Amino acid sequence: MASDFAQQVKGSVDIVRVIGDYVRLKKAGPERFAGLCPFHSEKSPSFSVHARLQIFKCFGCGKGGDVFSFLMEYSGLSFVEALHQLAEQHGIPIPKRREGAEADADAKHREALYRAHELAQQFFERQLFEAAGEEALAYLRRRGLGDATIRAFGIGHAPAGNRLLSLLERQGFGEEALVGSGLVGKPEDRPGYYDRFRDRVTFPIANQTGKIIGFGARALRDEQQPKYLNSPETAIYKKSAVLYNLHRAREPMHQKNRVILAEGYMDVIGVAGAGVGEVVASCGTALTQQQVRTLRRLVDTVVVNFDSDSAGQSAVEKSLQLLLEENFHVKVLELPGGLDPDEYCRQHGADAYRRQLDHARNFSVWLADRARTKFDLSTAEGRVDAFEFLKPSIHLLPDKIQRAAVANDIAERLGVNPGLILEEFRRSSADRGRRAAPPSIKHPLGHSERLLLELFLDSPEARAEMLPQTAEATRAQQSAGAAIFQAMLAAQESGEPFEFSAIEGRLQPRDREILSQIVFDRDRQPFAIEQGRSALAAIERQGWEREYRAVRREIVEAERNSDRRESLRLLQRKVELERRLGVLRPQA
Ligand code: CTP
Ligand code: MN
Repeated sequence: MASDFAQQVKGSVDIVRVIGDYVRLKKAGPERFAGLCPFHSEKSPSFSVHARLQIFKCFGCGKGGDVFSFLMEYSGLSFVEALHQLAEQHGIPIPKRREGAEADADAKHREALYRAHELAQQFFERQLFEAAGEEALAYLRRRGLGDATIRAFGIGHAPAGNRLLSLLERQGFGEEALVGSGLVGKPEDRPGYYDRFRDRVTFPIANQTGKIIGFGARALRDEQQPKYLNSPETAIYKKSAVLYNLHRAREPMHQKNRVILAEGYMDVIGVAGAGVGEVVASCGTALTQQQVRTLRRLVDTVVVNFDSDSAGQSAVEKSLQLLLEENFHVKVLELPGGLDPDEYCRQHGADAYRRQLDHARNFSVWLADRARTKFDLSTAEGRVDAFEFLKPSIHLLPDKIQRAAVANDIAERLGVNPGLILEEFRRSSADRGRRAAPPSIKHPLGHSERLLLELFLDSPEARAEMLPQTAEATRAQQSAGAAIFQAMLAAQESGEPFEFSAIEGRLQPRDREILSQIVFDRDRQPFAIEQGRSALAAIERQGWEREYRAVRREIVEAERNSDRRESLRLLQRKVELERRLGVLRPQA
């Protein structure tokens, strides 16, 4: 379906990159980039691009929209042309209105790969408990894994030789599926095939629906190289998008509103096996932006819990940037004794690990400690270097309050005067301000409405809980944001993806303008659902108060007219409102 494909394309491109090819964009806020508008002539930038919502807006000429509207406007393309251009540039195969056979062939190929993985998984799991799997099973036991954990994670054993190959051939898989699955390799110098995974412990890797799409396979002995051998990219396994254990972690993540990011398969299994389910890892690659975005849609807090070796520590540094760019609340957990999560859980148990988790430090404290070990803070140069090291992460912090808190953390850890650090922050954020001032905003929404609006844009939970009620309350009061909440509700109920364009498309120009102003204005400190509840309560209360005043006026009126029935009805309503307002004081 065309719209599925458009969604897919939109999900795989970054509007900042795409527009960045045409317009020089500078970072102008935690989620905002700004530049000179390509659609009208200007000297100071009023053209903004929102990285998370994937939209652009010019506050000078008013043009705005998504990545497709940009290309349509800029290059005079039709929607379909813009779609195809983007897909081609990003190597996304276009489902041309193809002959049925061709489309089927693609789907069939993917089906075959899923099926091959299913068979491989069954085979590996079985092998672990057969005679040939004895060494592998002993190895896993030595690493503290019980049968329940082994089965829960589908851990298996790939035996020596080409046994999976023979099995798949017997099942009728041809070369395309065999080699295409990555389970089987084809030597260049001789005919035939070979099993990719041999004499290793296997960890199945699943996509978000739980279908197995690849394997990580660990050596059993030190002399075996590499330590981990992973599936290659295939038609069903895109490494930059997949996170190990995500399909099992989703529910606990949702419950806890956090995710633990570990480095390896065994760490995930150790932590989850200890009963802390909200844990994932990237499989054999550095963390990618796509993975971070996937996580960001699900939770607000990430606890980075990598190995304590130097590779692990520099991996933490690299991940921090990515995570802060997506506005995660980031903590770093370093376990005592330099233990990996896996080792720690095994030696100290689940409760101890959970206690450690609760004391995970804010990333800034971790970074400051890291700066202290890297630079000599007794010299002026050392302090300058340390600050340069810390600056990029601090620059990514969304608001002043957070920056001030972080400045304090850092000053304390570095043993310098917080005033100095704050001064530096002030200067660097002033620089940032000068490069691209945020658009000046005059929108009529009150604080509560604005808070809810932002919260709804971010949080499906908040929408599910409060959007209908908010739409109703604001409609009844005819307040400034009423139309926007109605549009959000309609977009939500339409069953289409809840996207900015879906809301915008349902608005009159004036409300559309208000919505973009708010979206682009925010120096965003994400709101919590709890704040949303208070805001909604405040709005409802306002409505009741207004009605209460009206009812009291009407009672006087009804009594003057000796309208008994009406004044009785009004009195009942008055009591009801007094109950809701929780006030018996009449001056409300
Ligand atoms: N990795 C990999 N290829 C390697 C080594 C590591 O793909 N040659 C990936 C694996 O996903 C592994 C992760 O990096 O799980 C972490 O590697 P490492 O720290 O070396 O392994 P541990 O998790 O400590 O593995 P183990 O505890 O099994 O020794
Ligand atoms: Mn380890």
